[in-house]
Amino acid sequence: MEKKPLYEGKAKQMFATENPDELLVYYKDDATAFNGEKKGIITDKGVLNNKIATFFFELLGKAGIPHHLLKRLSDREMLVKKLTILPVEVVVRNIAAGSLAKRLGLAEGTKMAKTVLEFYYKDDELGDPMINDYHIAAMNLATPEQIQKVSEYALKTNEILSAYLKEKDLELIDFKLEFGLYKGEVILGDEISPDTCRFWDSKTGEKMDKDRFRRDLGNGEEAYKEVLYRLTGEK
Ligand code: C5P
Repeated sequence: MEKKPLYEGKAKQMFATENPDELLVYYKDDATAFNGEKKGIITDKGVLNNKIATFFFELLGKAGIPHHLLKRLSDREMLVKKLTILPVEVVVRNIAAGSLAKRLGLAEGTKMAKTVLEFYYKDDELGDPMINDYHIAAMNLATPEQIQKVSEYALKTNEILSAYLKEKDLELIDFKLEFGLYKGEVILGDEISPDTCRFWDSKTGEKMDKDRFRRDLGNGEEAYKEVLYRLTGEK
């Protein structure tokens, strides 16, 4: 397949294909945190995240959530629908951790009485500031109908993934999603992986996600491998 580099992000690289409606995504091992201030590598992260994201997209697809994955092509590559990404990141939280715990003075691990949905303006220079639906409408980042769909899909994703992960002794603490438009429809894009979610072992409370890298806890690769193993049985 002919590949023309289009854009290189922190964890993935995008290539144009001969089909203008499709992109090739290449998953890298590079790990970044704190808006790119901390940089490192998690060995084989690209392979593991490509497989984990494929698993999650397929699970969500079966439940009726439209997503961009067309096919996993190789260990590090997937073929996806080319979306016009909405400049809004969506975070769903079940248990207080990370920036929510810090901002609101909650102990990490505090169960939220209600699922929390947050929006962030996707802008690296501004450090992705939190916004609400008024800002989104006022800045024309998305239409109210699009945000309605985004919210509906994000909450449904939370239900599906939380239930599935619980069976595998993983607690879904929080996660980030990105959506885009494809032929006018709102579609789930980007990735769902230990880079973009917090997973805690249900029994031990051990962190099984990028917090191992962010907080220098070590064994990042082992944690990502264990997530793939619990989801798919693949070693
Ligand atoms: O840092 P914070 O606690 O706000 O992150 C909430 C969730 O969103 C975490 O699961 C984190 O991995 C994810 N996230 C992300 N990309 C960002 C910010 C947060 O994947 N730019």
